Amino acid sequence: MKVDVLLGLQWGDEGKGKIVDVLTPKYDIIGRFQGGPNAGHTLEFNGIKHVLHTIPSGIFHPKAVNIIGNGVVIDPVVFKKEIDALLKLGVDVKSKLIISKRAHLILPTHRLLDAASETSKGKEKIGSTLKGIGPTYMDKTGRNGLRVGDIDSPKFKEKYLALVEKHKQLLAFHNYEYNLSELEPAWFEGIEVLKSLERVESEHYINDAMKSGKAILAEGAQGSLLDIDFGSYPFVTSSNTICAGACTGLGIAPNKIGNVIGIFKAYCTRVGSGPFPTELEDETGEQIRKTGNEFGSTTGRPRRTGWLDLPALKYAVMINGVTELMMMKADILSGFETIRVCTHYNYTGKQIDYLPYDYSPELLSPVYVDLKGWNKDLTGLHTAEEMPEALNDYIAFIEHEVGVPISIVSVGPDRTQTLIRKKELV
Ligand code: GDP
Ligand code: IMO
Ligand code: MG
Repeated sequence: MKVDVLLGLQWGDEGKGKIVDVLTPKYDIIGRFQGGPNAGHTLEFNGIKHVLHTIPSGIFHPKAVNIIGNGVVIDPVVFKKEIDALLKLGVDVKSKLIISKRAHLILPTHRLLDAASETSKGKEKIGSTLKGIGPTYMDKTGRNGLRVGDIDSPKFKEKYLALVEKHKQLLAFHNYEYNLSELEPAWFEGIEVLKSLERVESEHYINDAMKSGKAILAEGAQGSLLDIDFGSYPFVTSSNTICAGACTGLGIAPNKIGNVIGIFKAYCTRVGSGPFPTELEDETGEQIRKTGNEFGSTTGRPRRTGWLDLPALKYAVMINGVTELMMMKADILSGFETIRVCTHYNYTGKQIDYLPYDYSPELLSPVYVDLKGWNKDLTGLHTAEEMPEALNDYIAFIEHEVGVPISIVSVGPDRTQTLIRKKELV
């Protein structure tokens, strides 16, 4: 059986966690393929809200096996906190979670280096989550990193100290002050938690599972517009967030990819620095932020908000080969008389309908169409048939422009607030 991939099409926080949770009953295995504790994936059910950072969003279901793939970077400190929270809720983590030996470890000094790098950039800072993501992926590609598989080695401590020594030199270069001895005990406690869980060569596990007909869903983190290659560089994260990242991050051959499920919000948000063509720095933007509770799941920072950006969405659909779309947070747009959608850009004096290499605000401004809003609370709807006409028109407009069907419309954070439009797809 082929592997389905679920990923974000915007700048992250599209609602991936919620949908993975909703879809998990269909799958035997959920595998996270990249990113790390920079991610915050929220799920809600039975009145409880959970935020996951490293652990796949299928963990609350009784049967599915959850894999942390080789493309993920793990901070043992954050990881232990997540495990503790799950154990408290009675989740049988031991039998449902496995970790790739090839996944890289985030050291306390990676976090320090992230902070030092951001401080030295001043106004030009990326707005990183300060979780050590960039420095850890740098050590991965620089061939210096420590991996989960190393924790069993008798030389683990030696390897750790050698890498820390390198980091200390870099921190001295940045003139960055720190107290490492305060950070290390929690990190080594986290290593012990990792040791208590099953660590495998997950590429074999997944390929064997595929051969035996298991249904597998690959869960992305961040969003396509934060991809290291195709995002708004340098204001991006340090991994491939796009569909190709599922191949490298889990060991899935490209011809084994099945459906590609693209998640997007009915509007746009971005947290951190970088260009955002449809950003609303006015009352409307504030209203969306307030109603949508647009504050980071990981850092609590207010998210920047704006109208839906179709050229950017089309770009993400193209890069990922999206076969099916799911639109989130439709409920947040209720009550607007008019809803704007960006269809084109004015770009250096010309009108274009694609996302160009450089979309800094001084080069590019959005061109909108105005669509009719709906004045109906959507949060209590149970079927797609109950959706107001103006929302149906909004959806039809997006489907027509993007050329991919929207199978699910989400109307609230809870599992149950999920309207299925195309049963044949979901
Ligand atoms: P992720 O990183 O893509 O998993 O998304 P986040 O969890 O960071 O952010 C999405 C936020 O929107 C979370 O607080 C969700 O609980 C919430 N959410 C998801 N879908 C909906 C929806 O349809 N309506 C509303 N109002 N909230 C939603
Ligand atoms: P989920 O999986 C939204 C953003 C940061 C910053 C940039 C680089 O919850 O959608 P990093 O810490 O990765 O070096 O930060 O990327 N960013 C996210 N924004 N959702 C996320 O994850 C993000 N992960 C990173 O705000 O702009
Ligand atoms: Mg998030």
